[in-house]
Formats: sequence, C-alpha cells, structure tokens
Amino acid sequence: MAAFEQRVFSGVQPTGNLHLGNYLGAIQKFVDLQDAYDCMYCVVDMHAITVWQNPLELKNNIREVTAAYLAAGIDAKKHIVFNQSRVPQHAELAWVFNCVARMGWLNRMTQFKEKAGKDRENASVGLFAYPALMAADILVYRGTHVPVGDDQKQHLELSRDIAQKFNNDFSESIAGNGHEDGFFPLPEPLITGPATRVMSLRDGSKKMSKSDPSDLSRIKLSDDADQIATKIRKARTDPEPLPSEKKGLEGRREAENLVGIYAALAGTSAEAVLSEFGGGQFSTFKQALADLCIDKLAPITAEMRKLQADPGHIDSVLANGGDRAEVLARKTMDAVKDIVGFIR
Ligand code: TYM
Repeated sequence: MAAFEQRVFSGVQPTGNLHLGNYLGAIQKFVDLQDAYDCMYCVVDMHAITVWQNPLELKNNIREVTAAYLAAGIDAKKHIVFNQSRVPQHAELAWVFNCVARMGWLNRMTQFKEKAGKDRENASVGLFAYPALMAADILVYRGTHVPVGDDQKQHLELSRDIAQKFNNDFSESIAGNGHEDGFFPLPEPLITGPATRVMSLRDGSKKMSKSDPSDLSRIKLSDDADQIATKIRKARTDPEPLPSEKKGLEGRREAENLVGIYAALAGTSAEAVLSEFGGGQFSTFKQALADLCIDKLAPITAEMRKLQADPGHIDSVLANGGDRAEVLARKTMDAVKDIVGFIR
C-alpha cells in the first residue's frame, strides 16, 4: 500500500439552522486540526439538494456555513475553504463510485432510511446515492483523515469500502498506469471527545438536528445570549442532583448530554465536570453551562453576523478556495480516468 500524504477533509451541509452539535461534533474540531494537517473544509451544497432547497435560501445558507467556518477560526489562506459545486470533479468521481458501490451497501445506510422515511419511492435518487458522493468528496483529494460527528460513522465506513473496492477492481490498471499499490487511501474517521453526538435539549434519545420542529431542541449558532440562556434553562433534565462520577450518568441521557456539552465547550472531560458539579443542584449547573455557552458562542455569532453582512467577501473566499481545490481534484480525476480506461 502506498504511503499517502496526510490530508484532512470534511464538510457541512448548507441546510440552515447550524447548531451546537455541528459546532462541537465538527467545526470546533476542524479548527483544532489546522496546526497538524493540511485541511480542506467544504460547504457541501450538492449534498444539500438531495432534499429540495429554496434557491435563494440555499445561497444564504452556503454563506452562513462559510461564515461559521471563518468565525470559528479556520484560516482560509493557509487551508482550503470552498463550496462543493464549484469543483466539478466531485460529481465526476461520484459517478465512477456509483458504479463501484453496490446497491446492497447503500441499502444498509441508516441515514437514508431515516431521511427517506416511510415514503422511500418518493425519495430522490440523489438521497440514495449520497454516500457515494461523500466518498468522492474525500477521495478526490485522497483525503486521509475525516473529522465528523458520530452520525457520519457509517458513511465513512462506506467510503473506505468504496476506496478498497476501487483499488481491488482496478489493481492491474493502477499498476499499469504507474501508480503504487492502492490508488486511494482508506480514509480514517476522527470521532473523538465528549460531544461526538449532541442530543436534543428536549429529548435525550434524539440527536440535536437542523430539522427538529422544536427550536427549543437546539442551540443555533445564530442565537443570542437570551435565547441560549432560555433554551438551557428549559432543557429537559431529571429530578436527581448531578452524580460525582460518570457511572452515575447511566440511564440519564439528558444529564449525560448536558455534561458532555459542558466538557466539550470547556475543553475538558465529563469526569472533570462531574468532579466540579457533582452533588449540586441542576439549576446551578445549568446556570454555569449557559454562561459558558454564551461565553464561547457569542464571539463566533458576532463575527458570523459581520461576515454575513459582506457576502462579496465570503464569495471571494469560496472562489479562491475552489480554484485551489480544483487543481488538486483535476490531478486525481485525470489519474482515475486513465485507470478506468477513459480516453482524455
Ligand atoms: P451534516 O451537515 O449533517 O453535519 C455536519 C457535521 O456536524 C456533525 N453533527 C453532529 N455532531 C454531533 N452531534 C450532533 N447532534 C450533530 N449533528 C451533526 C456531523 O456528524 C457532521 O460532521 N454527510 C455530511 C456532510 C459531508 C461530509 C463529506 C462530511 C458531505 N461530504 C465528506 C465529511 C466528509 C453531513 O450531512 O453532515
């Protein structure tokens, strides 16, 4: 197997309502990885349209995700920030991967089942093929590390299966075209820390999501301090005080969720949070959590607002990132065409 240059790739869908789960599960980690890796952070607009999007809102939502990346501290000069649809090689490689991936593999995807619901016949073909496009996003740059929340784990496993099958199916051609064994790396998911799965504030059995009908279920990156404080105060809990050890959180999903959120925001562990707040009342902990959340999010929200007031600037960041991404993507796609047997 060839040694691959290490490269981080990840993406967020521009479907509105960016929330604390997106921040803690993904964006905050994107920021942390910048010192150690070359990173590419994509606004995956082609994924967004697997479910119909209002075109005017889509543009705003693309700018919102970009603003969140920049406001959180991603350096778009040093790394690459762009929107997916600008780089046509994502779709080109996705087609090849549609022909590598098996129906059976995609049929097992739990996210498709959840999103398509009971009316599968009426789901878009794009929604079904979504994971092959996701594999293409990563592999068109031969990405090796992918920071995501826990809900993307199955998609990442599928990306690895697709890379592996491509490498096997075309092994002779890969060698014949002068590439080392294993043209694509098997991308590694980075799913770490205390908040890989942030749950709804109203129901500890459901993950915090953009589409939950209750706005009280999520803290949005556009919420102001009052909204954050209200949502945390109203967050569902149980009547017991907080335990002093992690074991005491078993079966107490709402409490576990809030402790995980606190730990991720403070850059510490659930154990450390419990040793500070264990035995105390929930109201005291909730107040501290609200203060911390406002402290961390308010500067990001303010910077996002400032950036979003200048869409021209955001668009130029995306254009610049897209140009740099395309240079890399074209190189991979040229090699893929040779390997598959296309004439170019
Ligand atoms: P998306 O847009 O649904 O979510 C963006 C990121 O946020 C994480 N996330 C969460 N993390 C913790 N708790 C939650 N409640 C929560 N909700 C969302 C997601 O895990 C994700 O990391 N398919 C992807 C986008 C994508 C992608 C890629 C990611 C497309 N191509 C290539 C990585 C590499 C998605 O729908 O994410």
